[in-house]
Amino acid sequence: MAANYLRISVTDRCNLKCIYCHPLGGCDLIDHEKILTFEEIRRIVRLFVKCGIRKVRLTGGEPLVRKDIVELVRELAGIDGIEQLALTTNGVLLEPMAGQLKEAGLQRVNISVDSAQRQSYKHITGHDLLPEVTRGIHKAIEVGFKTVKINAVILKGINESEIPALARMSTDMPLAVRFIEYCPTSKYTKPASAFIPNSEVRKVIERELGPLSPALVRNIDGPALNFKLKDSAGTIGFISGRSSIFCRNCNRLRLTSDGKVSPCLYSAHSYDVKGLIRAGAGDRVVLDLLKKILDEKSDFTKLNSPAPDFSMQNIGG
Ligand code: GTP
Ligand code: 5AD
Repeated sequence: MAANYLRISVTDRCNLKCIYCHPLGGCDLIDHEKILTFEEIRRIVRLFVKCGIRKVRLTGGEPLVRKDIVELVRELAGIDGIEQLALTTNGVLLEPMAGQLKEAGLQRVNISVDSAQRQSYKHITGHDLLPEVTRGIHKAIEVGFKTVKINAVILKGINESEIPALARMSTDMPLAVRFIEYCPTSKYTKPASAFIPNSEVRKVIERELGPLSPALVRNIDGPALNFKLKDSAGTIGFISGRSSIFCRNCNRLRLTSDGKVSPCLYSAHSYDVKGLIRAGAGDRVVLDLLKKILDEKSDFTKLNSPAPDFSMQNIGG
């Protein structure tokens, strides 16, 4: 599948310390001057649009901690050819920013919430901020984003008991609640034994809340398989990155905050686009590199070098 979706990590900084994401053993933050400037991001996006990218998602770290993020949204929203502009956030800063983000041209938000219970949320994220996040979710619905999605990573022995309450958020509110399989990334996060397959998560939902029936999806969306509980306002999705392989349908590239383009989440292989830009390359040369990356991406069998320990916080999920 040709890539049409670019995920941009705008910062590696985050205001939470989630046990499945934050590299607790030592989080070497990238020096400020190595982070892409807004001008560089805009230029890379403009060139990617010439190669067929139609959807851009801003991620982190936590994208809302990047200074002047609303301005970046406005600049990207003004680029012709982008059909979807979205952002993935932990929601902590969303309530005060949702209106400005919407007004600047952001269309969709995904919000990470791994527990609907305050104590367990604090245990997972290191911060007692569930009330702020809940207000952010309500605000996101209120200001009228096209879809508001909730991302929940379920870990064995940590938040399994939260599955029904998280799923129930989709019955009461127009939310797409997605259960994401835990991807063990390094010795600093939770061990692989914390993994629970989505088949088990689904069983719990159907046992506690009733049967799930398939829901419609649009093709520019990610790898979630979507369902609905009876009479619900929203949907329930499963992103099963460990128990299934969706390389053939993978439509995304990732741009890290320090300017590297990665064709595959699981490959250590990346291209230093920022290096090329800062060496003074013109648009033609940068465009040739982006095209080469896209060609490589379409031949997914080449991308089989396993990633060494990596940090979700850097790559943005
Ligand atoms: P939509 O565009 O709204 O469908 O969102 P998305 O799922 O592309 O973006 P989001 O930032 O909400 O991603 C949720 C999480 O799903 C990611 O952080 C990953 O953990 C997982 N995920 C998304 N895309 C991939 C992928 O290509 N491979 C794998 N293994 N996991 C993915
Ligand atoms: N495994 C699975 N999902 C992860 N995310 C972050 N780290 C991991 C991991 N180790 C998800 C977050 C967020 C998205 C951007 O990435 O839940 O919703």
